Amino acid sequence: MSTTSPVTPPDIVEHPKMTVIGTGYLGATHAICMAILGFDVLGVDVDQRKIDALAAGDVPFFEPGLPEQLRIALDSGRLHFTTSFDEAAEFGDVHFVCVGTPQAPGSDAADLRYVESAFTELAQRITRKALLIGKSTVPIGTAARLTELVAQVSPLGDELELAWNPEFLREGFAVEDTLHPDRLVFGVSSPWAHRQLIQAFRPIIDEGTPLVVTDLPTSELVKVAANSFLATKISFINAMAEVCEATGADVNLLATALSHDSRIGGRFLKPGLGFGGGCLPKDIRAFAYRAEQLGVGQAVAFLHEVDDINIRRRVKTVELIREMVGGDLQGKRIAALGAAFKPNSDDVRDAPALDVARMLYMEGAIVTVYDPEANENAHRAYPDLTYADTMVAAVTDADAVALLTEWQEFVTVDADELGRLVRHRRIVDGRHALDADAYTSAGWDYRALGRPVAAKTVALASDSRDDVFA
Ligand code: UDX
Repeated sequence: MSTTSPVTPPDIVEHPKMTVIGTGYLGATHAICMAILGFDVLGVDVDQRKIDALAAGDVPFFEPGLPEQLRIALDSGRLHFTTSFDEAAEFGDVHFVCVGTPQAPGSDAADLRYVESAFTELAQRITRKALLIGKSTVPIGTAARLTELVAQVSPLGDELELAWNPEFLREGFAVEDTLHPDRLVFGVSSPWAHRQLIQAFRPIIDEGTPLVVTDLPTSELVKVAANSFLATKISFINAMAEVCEATGADVNLLATALSHDSRIGGRFLKPGLGFGGGCLPKDIRAFAYRAEQLGVGQAVAFLHEVDDINIRRRVKTVELIREMVGGDLQGKRIAALGAAFKPNSDDVRDAPALDVARMLYMEGAIVTVYDPEANENAHRAYPDLTYADTMVAAVTDADAVALLTEWQEFVTVDADELGRLVRHRRIVDGRHALDADAYTSAGWDYRALGRPVAAKTVALASDSRDDVFA
């Protein structure tokens, strides 16, 4: 780059102006919440439609509570949006990079092209001391590589610093997780970056949020390690479900008994159709891939097994439905309740529910999908499936019902009323979310992975199942 301007002393900006690059799920939430916390924020994206929608007060995806926060943030005058990197470079004292790192086509590796592009576009344009902060989930070593890249393209050379601040927000709880995270992790290379990050998160730190300050590679590892642990916990209980299926044991009762051991705990121990979404599946794959590259593939080889157990649950769910309808799915009408990878989300990326619907369809079943929020995204991903606008329409005349995403609407429906709509009272509870006794009493053939056919719900002393596993 040709233009150089004098570098101001590396002072800390007490109330930094922020840009957030990438206004997808993570970035939009971060930008909105930072404005709510009192910062001046500029959201940046290359997608003009997203920017227009957000600037007009529309959140382009489903996330409870976020539209209300967007409205408040816009009204405050502290939140603006642009597609211009020039404007972003001029505006920000700190720049958060929140672009996606999807699974690369035909590989388990993470596709880093959007991250590289965001850092390069910014670094080429920034002419005063600023901090670039990566939030995207990346393979270990990426931040170090990007540090070199930034130094090469920046007019400031290595004066333009980079830090990493992994994000742990869950879809469905994005606002709460961003405003009140259970911890903050700062991966930094200098005391200056550390101090500048503290200013950028001052309101959250002042709440007493635990802060862990690390080097760059540790901060990258924290995120993939956390997601690997969560995925492993889910696959552990689903592996136990396989053992239950072979022995007549009941995985629901097993999980409840295990959850009372405080060393194990009940969270992420809920058996069923397993994990999906835009994070857990691709993150464990990218981690295993990166570990191979680093020569420590053996250390995380178990993640391949975690992935396989997870995928087997989908296949097993199809087998259960096939068995229930008499061994052949051809021409059978199946109501698929749920398409999103989890309730309170319209995200269908790697969604177990849609995968099951697809497999049923491939075997010749007449599948009708209904999801309260994700029908549109599901239709885009799988246009061949039939979609219903209501649960009633989906289940009417069904030969079997498959509960695939545990939306409240499905969990609370009356078993007898539902029974009056279907052709046969057969239900597979893919999420262990229904009251098995209520369904059995209402004359349904109720099945769930890892539970014996005539399983009864055993009343727990003081915990409701939701409390235990939430
Ligand atoms: C996850 C991490 O939780 C979050 O910290 C990270 O930032 C992003 O990835 P998210 O993808 O929103 O968040 O979903 P999460 O709530 O973790 O659920 C993942 C999947 O696991 C869902 O498909 C869910 O249905 C499934 N799941 C979860 C189970 O099958 N059993 C459980 O006990 C818990």
